[in-house]
Amino acid sequence: MANSKYEYVKSFEVEDEIMLPNTIIIHVHARDFCRFSEVHEFEKPNDKKASELMNECSKAVLEQFPDVIFSYGYSDEYSFIFRKETKFYQRRGSKILSLIASFFTSTYVTKWGALFPQKDLKYAPSFRARVICCASMEVLQAYLLWRQYECHTNNQYNTCLWQLIKSGKSKEEAQATLRGSLKQDKNELLYQCFNINYKKDIPEMFRQGTCILKTEVEDIVKYKDDGSPVTRTRRKVLTVHSENIASKRFWKEKSCLSKKELDQFCDDLNKTRPEYVKSFQYESRLMLSTWIVVRIDGCHFHRFSDVHEFEKPNDAQALNLMNACAVAVLEEFRDVVFAYGVSDEYSFVLKKDSQLYQRCASEIVSSVVSFFSSTYTMSWNEFFPQKEMKHLPYFDGRAVCYPSIEIIKDYLAWRQVDCHINNQYNTCFWLLVKSGKSKSDAQSYLKGTQTQEKNELLDRLTGIINYYNTLPPMFCLGSSVFWDKETKRVDNEEGATGKSRRIVVVGHCNIIETGFWEAHPQILDEKVDHFKAVQMANGKNGWNDLP
Ligand code: GTP
Ligand code: MG
Repeated sequence: MANSKYEYVKSFEVEDEIMLPNTIIIHVHARDFCRFSEVHEFEKPNDKKASELMNECSKAVLEQFPDVIFSYGYSDEYSFIFRKETKFYQRRGSKILSLIASFFTSTYVTKWGALFPQKDLKYAPSFRARVICCASMEVLQAYLLWRQYECHTNNQYNTCLWQLIKSGKSKEEAQATLRGSLKQDKNELLYQCFNINYKKDIPEMFRQGTCILKTEVEDIVKYKDDGSPVTRTRRKVLTVHSENIASKRFWKEKSCLSKKELDQFCDDLNKTRPEYVKSFQYESRLMLSTWIVVRIDGCHFHRFSDVHEFEKPNDAQALNLMNACAVAVLEEFRDVVFAYGVSDEYSFVLKKDSQLYQRCASEIVSSVVSFFSSTYTMSWNEFFPQKEMKHLPYFDGRAVCYPSIEIIKDYLAWRQVDCHINNQYNTCFWLLVKSGKSKSDAQSYLKGTQTQEKNELLDRLTGIINYYNTLPPMFCLGSSVFWDKETKRVDNEEGATGKSRRIVVVGHCNIIETGFWEAHPQILDEKVDHFKAVQMANGKNGWNDLP
């Protein structure tokens, strides 16, 4: 496709390849699980069904992505371990973590009904993800020990806390009782006061967490004439619980790690070095005082749109669904001041002084991608009531920083030029195909044609003068999503007055020309506190008298 003068903005994208010999771990955990579990009335401290749902999602990730060899999780978190030599998406950190977070979330929404048939999913759940790099097997072993230690201690503490609360103590009193207590003290407390034998009475899944792994099994596919079996090796996903998932013994019986890798495990690891824990918790931050763009893109949407029979080249309902998800993102993440979408992609612009997740790239990208994915999955039926969702939708994402308003506008112009070029090409292509040409003939026919020639071709094929200009603006200009003022006329005894509130709107505007930005100076205004502006404009009931 032709280059545009805006294409230079691509040079702001930075490489984030995770180099060998690092083993890649993606750690996924729920955003604000406290609120989510309260709204959905999960049992405390552990809800069996909620944990099973997490396990189901983890299993789905292992089945979907061959390079994820095992995972470990408890409560609202899961860690996915990739095989060391993986080439998955050229080992690009942001791509990998966003895909996993997105797929995990879409699965969570889809499987919700099977685990909670009596409970509606009240709002879109979302997960944050981080990449953890393990430079050696020793570090991987330390990571597993650390996560399982956290599982043990958190679960023991929470079991005591909720027993005390159930027995009539306030949360503060229960916390005070447990302050400074050792592991042994907590076991004693459970036994003496509540007749609970921690090891015997609390299910393994809560005490030890869950390990999901791939093993190889031999299937007999047929028998030869001489009666001997013909076997085929198949990978099978298993769910196991174990007291010590960091022990060499545990992995010896599994085929996830090679003998060479396992030889690097210590025989008896019982403590994780604090320096290692510090490295597991490290997160890189995006440069201060720059506009952050989170661009997400549907994964394998070529297939997804074919399977769901989207209209070609543009399906208005599919685009409306994407737009509805973008609106939800602006309402959820108040630092997002503008979004622009076309086809299966959306760019979200965060204000320059955003402090969302202390500007940690992975948290920002994964949260937006995950929230977008769950909204897409949850809203599917509303936009396609007649179509069953056959494949899970999932998206990748990246964050790029742009240092000035001019460059951020050029970034958006770059995406809109791309929208126009692709839309014009695709409109010609599908009209040629509909007129009887094969796909490859249509492709060669269009090779090297300029805008003017394509417009003439469209006019000829349709018999309509300036056909391209008759297409819906959403197809030609993409969709812009931003906060705007909505005004309502109110008639009362003193005459007519106006009330206004701020809402998120979807427009199909030319954002390359300066007119749009002149008409909406508040969008990229560096001085506006967008969150406060929305709160103040909307008052308590959502409507405020116009000044
Ligand atoms: P990856 O993003 O690399 O995983 O590949 P992809 O298959 O998602 O393709 P890409 O993102 O490059 O392009 C988006 C694809 O989504 C298009 O090529 C179309 O096949 C499909 N698509 C997006 N919007 C529509 C639509 O409205 N109608 C139809 N029919 N297809 C669409
Ligand atoms: Mg795509």
